[in-house]
Amino acid sequence: MITTKFQKEYALLEKTQRFFMLSFFVYIVIVAGSYIQIPGSLNVGYKRNGAFYYGVENVSFTRIQRSALPRYDHFVSSGSVDQLAMFYSTWKVEPSTLPVKKSPDRKKIIIWNPTSIWPTPKAIPCLSMPQCEFIKKTKRRRRGKFQTEDADAIIFRGIFGIPKVYSRNWFPKTRPEHQIWIYFPFDCPPITRGIDLISYGGVFNWTMSYRNDSDILAPWGHITPVYKALAENPPAPNKDYAKQKNKLVIWYVSDCYKYMTRFVYAAELSKHIQVDVFGVCGNVSGSCPKNRTDRSCIKEHVRPYKFYLAFENFKCVEYITEKFWHNSVDYDIVPIVLGPSKGDYERVAPPNSFVHVDDFESPEAMANYLTYLDHNDEEYNRYFAWKTNPPKNLPDFESRFCEVCKKLLQASPTERKVYTDVERWWKGGNYEFCEPIVWDGPLRGKKNAAHFP
Ligand SMILES: *[C@@H]1O[C@H](CO)[C@@H](O)[C@H](O)[C@H]1NC(C)=O
Ligand SMILES: *[C@@H]1O[C@H](CO)[C@@H](O)[C@H](O)[C@H]1NC(C)=O
Ligand SMILES: *[C@@H]1O[C@H](CO)[C@@H](O)[C@H](O)[C@H]1NC(C)=O
Ligand SMILES: *[C@@H]1O[C@H](CO)[C@@H](O)[C@H](O)[C@H]1NC(C)=O
Ligand SMILES: *[C@@H]1O[C@H](CO)[C@@H](O)[C@H](O)[C@H]1NC(C)=O
Repeated sequence: MITTKFQKEYALLEKTQRFFMLSFFVYIVIVAGSYIQIPGSLNVGYKRNGAFYYGVENVSFTRIQRSALPRYDHFVSSGSVDQLAMFYSTWKVEPSTLPVKKSPDRKKIIIWNPTSIWPTPKAIPCLSMPQCEFIKKTKRRRRGKFQTEDADAIIFRGIFGIPKVYSRNWFPKTRPEHQIWIYFPFDCPPITRGIDLISYGGVFNWTMSYRNDSDILAPWGHITPVYKALAENPPAPNKDYAKQKNKLVIWYVSDCYKYMTRFVYAAELSKHIQVDVFGVCGNVSGSCPKNRTDRSCIKEHVRPYKFYLAFENFKCVEYITEKFWHNSVDYDIVPIVLGPSKGDYERVAPPNSFVHVDDFESPEAMANYLTYLDHNDEEYNRYFAWKTNPPKNLPDFESRFCEVCKKLLQASPTERKVYTDVERWWKGGNYEFCEPIVWDGPLRGKKNAAHFP
């Protein structure tokens, strides 16, 4: 009896002890978890007077704190590691370890965090390359139930849904060794600033962006489709582009943050020359609705103008967007560009197709030059000479997704690569890839818009 009672008590004691140990463990996990969440305070938005605003309040982009050490929880390198590479490691695997190849060689690519409007059905699949099948993960097909094992590559978009701090749970459950995870930041570093990329070290195999050092080039526009369209619809050789243009400068702008470089520049420019400002930040009514598929309104709207202010929101190396490609180069209007260096434009744009702000010592000097062009049709027309002189060897470029397909078909099955420091690759070791920005108000909306004289 006594023994049994003792045994019972002992068992109870053991249970209690286990319970306390478990509680302690849970406590530790919760406390540790709260520390891991710290970088989450790099919010993309902030609250003031009860209202939510986009942006980081008065935080300079250069001073965003770097968080914990890179994590390498996926990173198992075998063989030789290329120590010279600063942001990534490469190595090779034995061909005998590879899974049996599908025949014919077809590639399956999953887009892990699409939205209802991205990518548009028109953008995928890459029509000219039936070798690649692109699949958007839908909400209904949840993680776990969604088959990813047989995918050759998975594209992760660096905005909309990607965790602020790396979280294993958000990613596919299993990760075959040969499967390529592609980091697609989608926009420029200031836009992805709310994501703690340090925590993503050792996660992605390839990068995809507008920058030329990406594994897959994904610019916002390209010279090839421009020249293809001109070949189908060639302009008359002696076309006078100045004819029937009776207005000077047009600007469409919808991110109204007034301390952005472009606002300071445009406000100064408009003191010397007529600038018609449309879009959310404009002071003139009659803007076209924003519509990426139907561009007929904007095409008509820019027609009577001689110049378009293709000013980028953010000044980042190589960051040239649709403001340049689709709002100006596609039409008969000369873009005035503010963004990356002149050299970055020259490498991708048609020759003598734009006016760069860096060529002028002040907005006033720019205004004088535009006035000069306004009175010299011959000089003005020289900015369109490229339309009748397509380059001899056009680069082969159809779309971002075709580039993904091409790269996958070319990739050697034994080569491995992983970005150990994707933060540094994307932003630069000293954040030198973008001009620093300081926010102190809402990004959109008229309230904080720049005032034009
Ligand atoms: C890539 O861009 C950089 C500037 O960011 C430039 O220095 C370099 O020449 C470019 N390389 C190619 C191959 O276009
Ligand atoms: C808009 O601003 C321009 C100066 O850039 C000015 O000339 C024009 O009168 C303004 N239009 C309206 C409707 O306020
Ligand atoms: C854009 O234009 C297309 C074609 O005219 C139309 O079907 C679509 O509804 C428009 N989208 C928006 C957001 O206005
Ligand atoms: C991709 O990265 C993971 C994680 O570091 C690695 O285990 C895998 O071998 C890499 N795969 C390829 C195809 O590079
Ligand atoms: C943010 O910075 C701007 C300009 O430096 C300053 O005028 C503003 O008062 C600051 N806002 C806050 C909330 O500190």
